[in-house]
Amino acid sequence: MSHVLIVGSGARAHALAWKLAQSPHVSRLSVAPGNGGTAALPGARNVPIDATDVVSLLDFAQTEAIDLTVVGPEEPLASGLVDQFEAVGLRIFGPRRAAAMIEASKSHAKTLMARCGVPTPPYEVFTDLDAALDYVTSQPVYDLVIKADGLARGKGVFLPRGEADAEGILRALLERDALGAAGRRVIIERRLNGTEVSVHAFTDGEAVVLMPPLCDYKRLLDGDQGPNTGGMGAVAPTAALTPALLDQVHERIVRPVLAELLAEGLRFKGVLYVDVMIVDGQPLALALNARLGDPAAQTLLPLLQTDLFEVLQACVDEHLSDLQVCWKTGAAATVVLTTAGYPYRHEPGLPIQLGAMPEGVLVFHSGTRRTDGTELVTSGGRVLAITGLADDVPTAAARAYRGVAQVSFPGMHFRRDIGSEPGCSGPALD
Ligand code: GLY
Repeated sequence: MSHVLIVGSGARAHALAWKLAQSPHVSRLSVAPGNGGTAALPGARNVPIDATDVVSLLDFAQTEAIDLTVVGPEEPLASGLVDQFEAVGLRIFGPRRAAAMIEASKSHAKTLMARCGVPTPPYEVFTDLDAALDYVTSQPVYDLVIKADGLARGKGVFLPRGEADAEGILRALLERDALGAAGRRVIIERRLNGTEVSVHAFTDGEAVVLMPPLCDYKRLLDGDQGPNTGGMGAVAPTAALTPALLDQVHERIVRPVLAELLAEGLRFKGVLYVDVMIVDGQPLALALNARLGDPAAQTLLPLLQTDLFEVLQACVDEHLSDLQVCWKTGAAATVVLTTAGYPYRHEPGLPIQLGAMPEGVLVFHSGTRRTDGTELVTSGGRVLAITGLADDVPTAAARAYRGVAQVSFPGMHFRRDIGSEPGCSGPALD
């Protein structure tokens, strides 16, 4: 029986803990730092260590003789948490720092993809403001996407609405350090029209288990309006990615990226998550990520039939090809509930009313905590993720919205069009 440590505080960490709590191999779960939902799981406790505090996490794992650590967010991967754990013989699920660079630097990911022939939109890299401004004026601005090179929690991608807007974005990043070091290098990429989907894969560096393809709703408002966020909802499986296209994503993106990393001595063990744009029937890689997405985790993990602990162990031990990983038939849809000012600010301490959930609905906590009087209150801009499960996406989304109706807190915001994706058979609104 194993004691598992999950690193993270969001709904992804809650979904990982919820799934691992079902494993007969897991007797204890610690979540660092966790949230109001992880604290309430049977056999689980929160540990007050921040996900980026590598030294304290290492100390905790050694003192508690943790059997397996699972890393949720990207920041600890980029700061070498996995390398440090492995150096002292601790078992940990996630890529080492050098392999996690595929997410920590977009320009690094682009050159890696060029080396192994992975199709991706054309781009240029800039650290100099004047050079970036010259480039923007030489291009049709509506054809451009500006991206911060480093980690920006989903807030580093900009679609300029004109030259003045593009200049403002570039000045904010390169002149005023709006995203700190993450934005001191930018890539300016060709903006393509197509259907965007996300593909996740468990991998031990060679063998790959693809997860159901996912549609991720990144913009704040209905109809894909407003700023980019960490994700306002997701559905899986998305009909926008046919089995033939999923096969192409595997053959033309996932397999060559992993093979290139392996050939360079950077075996990637963990979850590889690719943002894909389908243009004229061909998949192009928009971004590579080194972990499960959020709210992808809350959408995909409920569809996993196989014991998650066994999958994670097989990746760590490099024998994933020996394990048959099965997925449930049916679909999942997740709606993210945020505070009013998200993604720019959040209001902590707002009381949350959480009623009884209908059948087929799961609640994953993110920015929540219990007060000493055990009242549930907000503690972050992303508050809860409500996942509906059903035979198909529209019914799953309708279920999720029935769950949403059981929740309230002052200023609660959510998108009302989750499930109305291209390829879905219709909108799922009450
Ligand atoms: N939902 C986007 C992400 O997890 O990066």
